[in-house]
Amino acid sequence: MPEMTTAATVERITKFRPGDLNDLCDAADLAIRDGGGFGWIDPPPRDVMERYWKGVLIVPERHLFVAKLDGVVAGSAQLVAPPRNNEAQAHSAQLTTSFVAPWARGHGLARKLVQAVETAARETGYRVLNLDVRETQRAAIALYKALGFQHWGTHPLYAIVRGQGIAGHFFYKDLTSSDQASLDHSAAVQPLTEAQP
Ligand SMILES: CC(C)(COP(=O)(O)OP(=O)(O)OC[C@H]1O[C@@H](n2cnc3c(N)ncnc32)[C@H](O)[C@@H]1OP(=O)(O)O)[C@@H](O)C(=O)NCCC(=O)NCCS
Repeated sequence: MPEMTTAATVERITKFRPGDLNDLCDAADLAIRDGGGFGWIDPPPRDVMERYWKGVLIVPERHLFVAKLDGVVAGSAQLVAPPRNNEAQAHSAQLTTSFVAPWARGHGLARKLVQAVETAARETGYRVLNLDVRETQRAAIALYKALGFQHWGTHPLYAIVRGQGIAGHFFYKDLTSSDQASLDHSAAVQPLTEAQP
């Protein structure tokens, strides 16, 4: 009997294929219910969630990456360019809104998402990739450290969730470093031509 394999893939998208928006909303909904961060504490109504993701695709500074497990959207991350007026920080981009639905965890999707965002940032010419994360997101913090992100500071009142203050950790990665060992070049990503680092 042939061995069953699971296909874990990541791609940058600029439009939703049939079913993808619904699957992305489902994945985000489950991640939020699980305490998954990225701002929402409780899942918003579906029409609000759909408008959010559609909005991401039309904001020029935002680049959306989706993770799929066996073809079903199960997570995502965004590469966010600095505002065009911010010349002094034009060298740095942000990794945000990274999550994987609980049912799809442990298959390497989060690692692939971060690597895809990092690869796109390098190919666009950014020199620094920044991110921040609640201190309670232990799995994400372990992943970022494993991929070479440096912890440079902690904000003691980074978030307030159900009345409780939560600290947040700030990380950066120097993309000009010659150490690219953490990059998986099998994560094929199209260069972003519209960003202007
Ligand atoms: C963090 C998260 C994205 C990981 O997703 P995932 O697809 O299961 O992660 P991967 O399978 O790619 O694991 C990659 C690495 O993450 C770390 N990791 C993943 N799950 C972990 C866990 N439960 N405990 C500790 N480290 C963990 C490990 O370093 C792992 O590498 P390894 O398999 O070589 O040990 C997922 O747990 C999640 O969505 N959490 C909630 C949202 C969140 O924290 N987002 C980040 C906000 S910035």
